[in-house]
Amino acid sequence: MKMSIYLPREDSFLIQIAVKDFAKGKVLDMGTGSGIQAVTAASNKNVKSVLGIDVNKKAIEYCRREVKNKKIKFAVSDLFSKVKGEFDTIIFNPPYLPADEYAPDIALIGGKKGYETVERFLDGAGKHLNETGVIILLFSSLTGREKIDELIGNNAFVFEQVQQKGVGLMETLHVYLIRKNDLLKKLEKLGLSDVRKLTKGHRGVIYTAKYKNKKVAVKVQRPDIQVKSLFREIACLKKLQKYKIGPKLLLAEKDFFVYEFVEGKFIEQFIEKASKTKIIAVLRNVMLQCRQLDKLHLTKEEMQNPYKHVIVGKKPVLIDFERCKYSPDPKNVTQFCQYLISGKIGRLLAKKGIKIDKTKVIKLAREYKHKSDEKNFREILREI
Ligand SMILES: Nc1ncnc2c1ncn2[C@@H]1O[C@H](COP(=O)(O)OP(=O)(O)O)[C@@H](O)[C@H]1O
Ligand SMILES: [Mg+2]
Repeated sequence: MKMSIYLPREDSFLIQIAVKDFAKGKVLDMGTGSGIQAVTAASNKNVKSVLGIDVNKKAIEYCRREVKNKKIKFAVSDLFSKVKGEFDTIIFNPPYLPADEYAPDIALIGGKKGYETVERFLDGAGKHLNETGVIILLFSSLTGREKIDELIGNNAFVFEQVQQKGVGLMETLHVYLIRKNDLLKKLEKLGLSDVRKLTKGHRGVIYTAKYKNKKVAVKVQRPDIQVKSLFREIACLKKLQKYKIGPKLLLAEKDFFVYEFVEGKFIEQFIEKASKTKIIAVLRNVMLQCRQLDKLHLTKEEMQNPYKHVIVGKKPVLIDFERCKYSPDPKNVTQFCQYLISGKIGRLLAKKGIKIDKTKVIKLAREYKHKSDEKNFREILREI
């Protein structure tokens, strides 16, 4: 692949406006090319120093030869690989075009789909951005604006558009100002790092992060959902810690909590792969946890379909207690019985040579429902 020094073009002049307006303090100019943004930033009064980075050695040699400015230093680095410390401003006019056979040049092409370099950049940027720092990022409509917005959200950043310009008939250039969102700032203050969005649940957004050298999960209430259930889940998890049910709770705040990340497979994927003895041990273990919840008069709900809520690693861990609440006659054991005799799981178990006597389990579950004592529970457990 060709590696030319990127000479200033239309996109450079567009991002330059934002650099003049917003570059402050200690500045990192990623992919500095000819050094144009580094020089622009350095001319701001409130800019103290600028580090220009490029993966292309020739570009850095060129900058060192041509740019004589005491505020500016240059270094070769593939994105953040050689960068140390935090910055107040990070500028990036990235290669943002989807790969095109006719222009195979690393200074222009951002990867097969165009956004790959931006993705790698954003994944590394949080570590090098101060709490109040800003990223000034340019990209094109050809990079995919929705994708860029998604990548920003995945890193717990927020953005505002500060420049937009049409070029030619088909393309629009965008310049974003990107900052850390309030959640990320709070989490970093508590000592968490590498915060990434994992998934959106029914009512929560789950992030993963690093905390005390361990992978953790962070659950936040979804802002678009009216029902607020976070406080209930925190209360339940607190109560369940001493019974070793649910993930370990590490930190609880008003609008989020930090808990153990459970490594493993969802229960059905586990059943598909595991041996008969292991499956039986896991099902019995889940049944015992259900019994413990019953004894505590807590109903977790959805135990008749716990597909995404039982993760099996070293042992099975129940997750998602957002609907867990006090009930005089709790339903965990009976719901899990329902699950075990359902057609879908029945077929899975049959393949592994595990037969559960449906009629008998239904009968025993009825008796247990009527009288939820240890004796009736043991009868059920014996059937697994
Ligand atoms: N502690 C955790 N460890 C591993 N994965 C988790 C953890 N918490 C949540 N997840 C993943 O995120 C998904 C959604 O989490 P969940 O607690 O069910 O959120 P919601 O209450 O919004 O449904 C889960 O199905 C699971 O895949
Ligand atoms: Mg859920």
